[in-house]
Amino acid sequence: MYKLTFKYPLKDAETATEKLYIKDIYNVFYESPLTITTDDNGYGFYENIEELIDYNVIIESDDLNEVNSCINTIKETLLIDSIYSEKVEVQSFENEFEPLDLNNGWIFADPEYNVEDKKKINFIPQGAFGTGLHETTQDCLRYILSQDFTNLTGLDIGAGSGILSLAAAAKNAKLVTAVDIRDVTEEIMFNASLNNFNNIEVKVGNLLEENLLEKTYDFIVINIGGDETIMFMDFITNHLNPKGKLLVSGLVEWSFDKVKSNIESYGFTLDYKVQSAEWCTATFLK
Ligand SMILES: C[S@@+](CC[C@H](N)C(=O)[O-])C[C@H]1O[C@@H](n2cnc3c(N)ncnc32)[C@H](O)[C@@H]1O
Repeated sequence: MYKLTFKYPLKDAETATEKLYIKDIYNVFYESPLTITTDDNGYGFYENIEELIDYNVIIESDDLNEVNSCINTIKETLLIDSIYSEKVEVQSFENEFEPLDLNNGWIFADPEYNVEDKKKINFIPQGAFGTGLHETTQDCLRYILSQDFTNLTGLDIGAGSGILSLAAAAKNAKLVTAVDIRDVTEEIMFNASLNNFNNIEVKVGNLLEENLLEKTYDFIVINIGGDETIMFMDFITNHLNPKGKLLVSGLVEWSFDKVKSNIESYGFTLDYKVQSAEWCTATFLK
């Protein structure tokens, strides 16, 4: 396997990706340099679009002719002078995910990882948000894994990698619907298949703008942020069954009371709250 790297302006990177797709070059990735800001809703960010980024292309072959032909195609398509190429071991990509031990008897880990004294959920993240590194994800996971969802249906709003859906599926949910604005279907269904879970379905789209779901659910989880949760409250109220439970995370401590009051104004009551660093996670009953 080879990794090709070249400098490219961030503002033109998406167009470059489209041009490479047309030439059958699909395995591309880059990181956007971000400037982090704080606001009422927690943390925000903006992309420094004027910056040059390292744009990477992976070639899943060791054949030098193929590598050189790909380099030439990129140079001609994107008008690049210089491309750095490096042979990489497949393992260095596959082993990136360190096991996530939640210290509650549950662990998320690669299928190859052997563990005897804990319950394991197989997980190979593929790039969407939700590898469990963030406090909010971990606190949601600990809560979900402490519950029994037998015969209950759940909705995971902003599922990202689907890690919260996997946890609810492991705790016997009848069906979990994972929804994200990004197309995370493959990533979630791949991880579901690693665990033989057939109680997860994925929907793609913006729930605030599209009518994606007709069902109502026994529990809903949302880990996007305070302002987003407030924006979703009409939707959540309409899609949560009576006596249903709402798990909310991604709330910074300085806006928690504002979000809590908003949720309570829809007739919910606070049931449980935990805080890690500045991040609050809470459940509410309808
Ligand atoms: C902070 S991540 C949470 C990922 C995962 N649920 C977790 O707890 O680690 C938030 C996710 O919400 C998605 N998202 C943001 N706005 C959305 C919307 N209006 N509808 C659906 N998904 C949305 C983003 O694409 C992102 O994957």
